[in-house]
Amino acid sequence: MEIYILEDYDKMSKKAADVIKEQVIQKPNSILGLATGSTPEGMYKYLVEYYENNELDFKDVTTFNLDEYLGLDDLHEQSYHYFMDKHLLSKINVKKENIHIPDGLGIDIDNTCTKYDKAIESAGGIDLQILGIGLNGHIGFNEPGTFIAETHQVDLTNDTIMANSRFFENQEDVPKMAITMGMKSIMGAKKIILMASGSSKARAIKMSLEGPITPDVPASILQLHQNLIVIIDEEAGALLENK
Ligand code: GLP
Repeated sequence: MEIYILEDYDKMSKKAADVIKEQVIQKPNSILGLATGSTPEGMYKYLVEYYENNELDFKDVTTFNLDEYLGLDDLHEQSYHYFMDKHLLSKINVKKENIHIPDGLGIDIDNTCTKYDKAIESAGGIDLQILGIGLNGHIGFNEPGTFIAETHQVDLTNDTIMANSRFFENQEDVPKMAITMGMKSIMGAKKIILMASGSSKARAIKMSLEGPITPDVPASILQLHQNLIVIIDEEAGALLENK
């Protein structure tokens, strides 16, 4: 595991964007696994900047997002479809047919999940996966409890509903269910970037990187990955012993 503890959020965002830039330059048809949440926003800002400056070309890139709420329309401002469009996908030249985000509106969710895993597999797996982390150590929406391999439907924990309620008008508006990529596609990525910012994430980072590998802390499974790059700011790294 490579760990970069950067001074602040901006430096951390740039470092993560630079790793993606390197990846896309070396392999223009890279398969990128993308994440939502406030953490990667700054990184997406840099990627858009690199594209606008002609330093990056996304025309052959394929993307697979980690997760989506169940029941939110694509145009709902808190849907991950909307988030991705707003922060990255509408601003770069990635082709529409190369963008994949789980469909949280389908009737047959099991089929949606199976098809999502098949699409990742037939693309050849993910080259570089971006991950944020939940306060409870979740990655994507893989909540504490069991490591589930496949893309699946998940009941969000109260912790997650509360944490994500900051984006909604009322806590009751937060969807209670989601679809998330499972551990097989995430751990199958050739390279993973784990990002975290701020003191509220320090405990999750400490438990994930220096605690036991357990489904109670979903991100702890990343300790088993051969090519994990941790990019965090000083506050998020404050509790780490091995820096
Ligand atoms: C959500 C997403 C995760 C994300 C996490 C942290 O629950 N499903 O993919 O990593 O929140 O979000 P934030 O970066 O806003 O703290």
